[in-house]
Amino acid sequence: MRKPLIAGNWKMYKTIPEALGFAQSFKPLVVAATHCDIVLAPPVIAIKALADRVEGSNVEVAAQNVAAEAGPGAFTGEVSAAMLKDAGARYVIIGHSERRQYYGETDESVNRKIVASLAAGLLPIVCVGERLEDREGGHAEAVIAAQLVGGLRNLTVTDASRIIIAYEPVWAIGTGRTATPHVAQLMHAFIRSRIREMFGDPVAAGMRILYGGSVKPDNAAALMSEADIDGALVGGASLEAESFAQIVNYKNDR
Ligand code: PGA
Repeated sequence: MRKPLIAGNWKMYKTIPEALGFAQSFKPLVVAATHCDIVLAPPVIAIKALADRVEGSNVEVAAQNVAAEAGPGAFTGEVSAAMLKDAGARYVIIGHSERRQYYGETDESVNRKIVASLAAGLLPIVCVGERLEDREGGHAEAVIAAQLVGGLRNLTVTDASRIIIAYEPVWAIGTGRTATPHVAQLMHAFIRSRIREMFGDPVAAGMRILYGGSVKPDNAAALMSEADIDGALVGGASLEAESFAQIVNYKNDR
């Protein structure tokens, strides 16, 4: 059985005091949630403080990005996977569409970041997703397949078994336009079939595939009821403790 994972991606929101205030309000709201893993991805500067604040609770911390180089080394402005681990992160989001779009992230850099993260003991949450024109042109599956082949190139079965995939159609991120559960399910099943071809059935059957893109308290349960949707990567609705807790507690609300 795959344990669902619900992750909040705060992007470039929240100072350290704001992150700690969130943790204070959020922890009691999810204290009974044992049905899923709960992850918060704050800006890198708040990782240490937030990880210390949630230590011993059922809430874990992710980074939103990582250096492609293992380091240590002369890479001004970069933060290595080992440093993120040391600061208290357990997961790292890699290849988010905003990083691909604004910061030149490619499948090749995604692949290097996965390798560096696994070597440091971080669990990668690898984002894939097609743009609106890809979907309208009928290329959505081809785009996702290429991102999987390029991003997961040369990984071993053991490496792949430690990875989480997040399917985030670019047209659904921050737009309020969620993929319907059915549309998301079709792509999740496709992703799992590709993972099966690349790494075999045990890895495919165990891999958690999250959906991301305008997940809200009122659509989380329907998305999560689909067979191949194993969690959510939540942007906007993770910024408020109450709304993110409602998403985490989707099961109790049904
Ligand atoms: P959103 O963002 O929930 O605000 O659409 C999702 C994401 O970018 O991970």
